[in-house]
Amino acid sequence: MYICMCFGITDSAIRHAVEEKGVGNLRELREHLNVGSQCGKCIQMAQQIIDSTIIDE
Ligand code: FES
Repeated sequence: MYICMCFGITDSAIRHAVEEKGVGNLRELREHLNVGSQCGKCIQMAQQIIDSTIIDE
């Protein structure tokens, strides 16, 4: 499922960044994938995916 339409980022790409690249917050996610750095509509959903992925680890 696409989370960030501006950059074509999926939920699995976000999970992968958290699990494999050590991303732990939105700032780090933006540095890796640009998520949220254009229109910002994806920020809330991206945060939820970061949180749920960290909890699952
Ligand atoms: Fe992510 Fe626009 S949908 S910055």
